[in-house]
Amino acid sequence: MCGIIGYIGKKDVQPILMEGLRRMEYRGYDSAGLAVVDGKTMGVCKKQGKLTNLANELQEHDLPGTVGVGHIRWATHGAPTDLNAHPHADCQGEIFVVHNGIIENYHELRDMLKERGHEFTTQTDTEVLPHLIEEMMKSDEPKAGHKKPLEQAVTEALALVQGAYGLAILSSAEPEKIVAARLGSPLVLGVVAPGEYVVASDVTAIMPHTRDVIYVEDGDILTLTPAGYKITTLQNETLDRQTTTVDWDVTQAEKSGYPHFMLKEIMEQPDAVENALRGRLIVEEGIAHLGGLNEQAERLSKVNQVIIIACGTAYYAGLVGEYMLEEYAGLPVQVEYASEFRYRKPVLDENTAVIVISQSGETADTLAALREAKRKGALTIGVVNVVGSTIAREVDCGVYTHAGPEIAVASTKATMAQLTVLALITLFLGRQRGMSLVTGKRIAEELRDIPAKLRTVLSNRSELDQLAKQYAKFTHFYFLGRKYLYPMAMEGALKLKEVSYLHAEGYPSGEMKHGPIALIDDSFPSFILTPRDSVYEKNVSNLQEIKARGGNIIALATEGDETVKSMVDAVVYIPKTLEMLTPMLAVVPMQLFAYYCAVVLGRDVDQPRNLAKSVTVE
Ligand code: M6R
Repeated sequence: MCGIIGYIGKKDVQPILMEGLRRMEYRGYDSAGLAVVDGKTMGVCKKQGKLTNLANELQEHDLPGTVGVGHIRWATHGAPTDLNAHPHADCQGEIFVVHNGIIENYHELRDMLKERGHEFTTQTDTEVLPHLIEEMMKSDEPKAGHKKPLEQAVTEALALVQGAYGLAILSSAEPEKIVAARLGSPLVLGVVAPGEYVVASDVTAIMPHTRDVIYVEDGDILTLTPAGYKITTLQNETLDRQTTTVDWDVTQAEKSGYPHFMLKEIMEQPDAVENALRGRLIVEEGIAHLGGLNEQAERLSKVNQVIIIACGTAYYAGLVGEYMLEEYAGLPVQVEYASEFRYRKPVLDENTAVIVISQSGETADTLAALREAKRKGALTIGVVNVVGSTIAREVDCGVYTHAGPEIAVASTKATMAQLTVLALITLFLGRQRGMSLVTGKRIAEELRDIPAKLRTVLSNRSELDQLAKQYAKFTHFYFLGRKYLYPMAMEGALKLKEVSYLHAEGYPSGEMKHGPIALIDDSFPSFILTPRDSVYEKNVSNLQEIKARGGNIIALATEGDETVKSMVDAVVYIPKTLEMLTPMLAVVPMQLFAYYCAVVLGRDVDQPRNLAKSVTVE
């Protein structure tokens, strides 16, 4: 949650900070703010609400200068007001801090600082930081004429802090310096040129300036000045961190003519599958070549149980993975919400593989669960989109999903890439465990054909637009599926909730008769996933049970299925594929339905209320 950015160099800083915040706005949009230093003068502007409010304000009060920090907020402590917007300042209005994360011991720190005369003006946890740094500046009075450097005061302050932070700090007393720090919240340093740096929560904010980045590690403190950058630890040791080149194309983070990122990303799904498969699928041999897993091949061959951990949409992708791995690799699989796993006492050992799925690679719950799994000795495998993210770096091995930057809060193409990678992992582990060449080839061929089939599904998107226009007047929906499509029913409901704010529930089709069917009447439509697969007849029966009670039904069926069409109110067709890959085709019409319902209802599609893309708090 929240996005921070800092820039130091020779360019006008305000547009750089604003563009960076625009690119990170998916991380939060409760308020935004900047602090820019010009000589010894600090200019600050903060506004509640979306970034446009800040942009409007800045038209009246331009902030000149070449060094500054910015923040985009997803509120945790304190209401989303102008006052609680970052940057936050010390008593003198000299030190300004932008923060992503939560300071857990802020109560004690605030009490201690109040006793020492500090005055607080906001309800945020973050405000303790500038005051604490101010306090450290005063303490242990430095020699006459030599003020304590900002980075030293920051280091001393952070030694007292518990919680998570990505920070950028500016002081008008040292106008040619930014100090940044990371513990538990993401931070990336972009090295534009000697003496010119951008530091941000997300690499997308850095991409317009440079592709040479350093992924800042937990416990690192950065000091950025015109003379260069320095990385030190909380213990004041100097570190050397490697620069990596980001291979994302800057235009991937633009809308490219689409009205919303969500639609653009839905349309990019055939490419997402192709990118996830590139160089990994050997169709003739029916195998998956996965570099990360090959390195652990021997240990993987001894694995006797798999636990999949994720949150939200990634969790639903994980549920599909459960069906895949059980059917084709013969492995017992459990799928766990990361937020629950971390508080349980799971039984796992060195023969357990824990697959951690995350688009951002920064989700706090998933990261905590990963660390717990590692601590217990399991082999951890990442299925992550953001290259260099914390989860990607902490797993024992992994398979990047290569979906490219996903900007819309509602995940679509990243989910598609996760399903692709899970199919590849199934092929890899299945072939290790006696899956035949014939079966391996069949899966590989069908996977190879998925992008073309997705293009067919997407070419019919106007039908979903029409359906949304008819159905957006309803306020409750069921999404029903069985076997491989039960998780996708859950995903369809989540998508609709997220972007259209309509109430939707995902259920296994067979569960309807155990209670939920009581709600069915002609005002409560059901979106039923009933392609021609091994559970087709069962689903058709469930469909009829709903119809018999006056329910309105949209069915997702296999191309040419006239039987289902004749029983329902509306039908959406998908091409035939292997049952284990059907989720990849079935999810798309539901994404489009959610998208078009949100458009019809005038919702903020890419930045739905109350949400943030990257959930880096518990
Ligand atoms: O970045 P992650 O994949 O770890 O995020 C997990 C969930 O927060 C995420 O999938 C969320 O549910 C999306 N908004 C779904 O569209």
